[in-house]
Amino acid sequence: MTAQLNPRGDVAVLVPAAGAGVRLGPGGPKALRQIGGEPLLVHAVRRIAAAPSVHTIVVAAPPGDAEAVRELLAPIAELIVVAGGATRQESVAAALAAVPPGPEIVLVHDAARALTPAILVEAVATAIRSGEDAAIPVLPVVDTIKEVSTDGVVLGTVDRSALRAVQTPQGFRRSVLTAAHAAAVDPLTDDAGLVEKQGVRVACVPGSEYALKITRPFDLALAEHLLNAENSRNVATTSEPG
Ligand code: CTP
Ligand code: MG
Repeated sequence: MTAQLNPRGDVAVLVPAAGAGVRLGPGGPKALRQIGGEPLLVHAVRRIAAAPSVHTIVVAAPPGDAEAVRELLAPIAELIVVAGGATRQESVAAALAAVPPGPEIVLVHDAARALTPAILVEAVATAIRSGEDAAIPVLPVVDTIKEVSTDGVVLGTVDRSALRAVQTPQGFRRSVLTAAHAAAVDPLTDDAGLVEKQGVRVACVPGSEYALKITRPFDLALAEHLLNAENSRNVATTSEPG
């Protein structure tokens, strides 16, 4: 039976899932590529649906696959599926337009971050509920970062102490995200970038290693490994001692 999301929740989560996954290589749209025998999108949506304050989920599906995606996700939760666009920003805009009245907090979360824990969804939502207009999960940058010329010569070393790698879910007061998308001109790779252009303060919350974006074949292999480890831990904690 389809699980009900929380009808008293105040959070809508938009899930852009319409990308081709060019960097992952051949094999169909990335959100429908599998780990542990299930599509990345199924893993991502299952974790979002487990976050207690989620009222609505809107998925932007690969164009042409919306009906298949609707059927795929129906057993997890009652949710809305729209056709995505040619860019991530267009996919997010299409999903945002489909959010019903009610939720005043909107999160945008990449389907490609399939192993993101529900607790991170809640942490970002909590930051908005407690007064921030926008909040993003971040991790410190671990590698030394250098600026390099087009012909491969080092121009300088960047001070990494002030740098952060940015993840999703990114959270916004609904009116702030709507205004930022209405004013958007050039396509950007994240939504916080759009609200920054509006002069809105964006707060940071600690990210999660599990929210890695599955981008290249190595990431897919890593995610499969992490999922197997999680499943064996669950078996170990739920089975009776023999
Ligand atoms: N996305 C989307 N619509 C697009 C492009 C991307 O909804 N037109 C989504 C992807 O499905 C993904 C998220 O945005 O969940 C982050 O994008 P990315 O990791 O770049 O995915 P792809 O664009 O599919 O990958 P690539 O850039 O390698 O083609
Ligand atoms: Mg992309």
